[in-house]
Amino acid sequence: MGNGKKNDIQAPYRAENEDVDIYGLHRQALRESPDPVEGLERPPWWLWVICISLIFWAGFYIGRYGGKFGPEVHLLSEGETVKQASVSKPGESPPVAAVDGAEVYNRVCAACHQQNGQGVPGAFPPLAGSGLIAGDDKLPVKIVLHGLQGPVTVSGTTYNGVMPAWGGQMSDEEVAAALTHARSSWGNSAPEVSAETVKQIREETSDRTTNWTIKELEGE
Ligand code: HEC
Repeated sequence: MGNGKKNDIQAPYRAENEDVDIYGLHRQALRESPDPVEGLERPPWWLWVICISLIFWAGFYIGRYGGKFGPEVHLLSEGETVKQASVSKPGESPPVAAVDGAEVYNRVCAACHQQNGQGVPGAFPPLAGSGLIAGDDKLPVKIVLHGLQGPVTVSGTTYNGVMPAWGGQMSDEEVAAALTHARSSWGNSAPEVSAETVKQIREETSDRTTNWTIKELEGE
């Protein structure tokens, strides 16, 4: 405390001054804020905000750049993603749409037509050896995009079920890849189906809201 103040403090004690300035004394004591207590203070709110933001940012960062913790990431060149790297060989430009037909087939179609394409007797017709999948490519594309119902005869057996439409859930590339896989597996050997064909048929049949019947498809 400065010298000027020191005089002020002592002033009320001067013997000749009977009128002790008690308010002045307290005012001086109260002016000081209490000493901080050390120990269990709550952390300030902004520290929480920073920590939580950091956790979210880190999660995003790992998700975006973590490469799924795969070993491949260490072999990548600048700007390359894991998927491109594992599909393309060195020196080859990465394919535009790297859709794996077998993967799509197993994910979408195999639940009913089975992984080996044999279907389930009495319920789901086989794709192996089916003239419908291996014939003109427009027909299976239409079936996948909009579904099929009613009696259909495959390899001499008649099925009467309902196949749901997949057009809303599969991209042109996925439909093409799944069909190409089915047309070239389990003894089938029909040419591939291109994503352009799927796109074109999707446009042509865009007003379709119900499943096809095989009569409709073969009558065309
Ligand atoms: C929910 C079960 C189910 C799924 C999933 C399914 N289908 Fe079907 N599919 C059927 C049924 C049932 C029929 C027969 C419909 C009928 O009786 O009219 C059929 C018929 C077919 C046919 C014509 C008949 C034949 O055996 O050749 C083709 C082609 C076909 N599906 C391809 C596919 C492809 C490709 C996928 C995957 C994109 C797929 N299906 C997914 C149930 C399914």
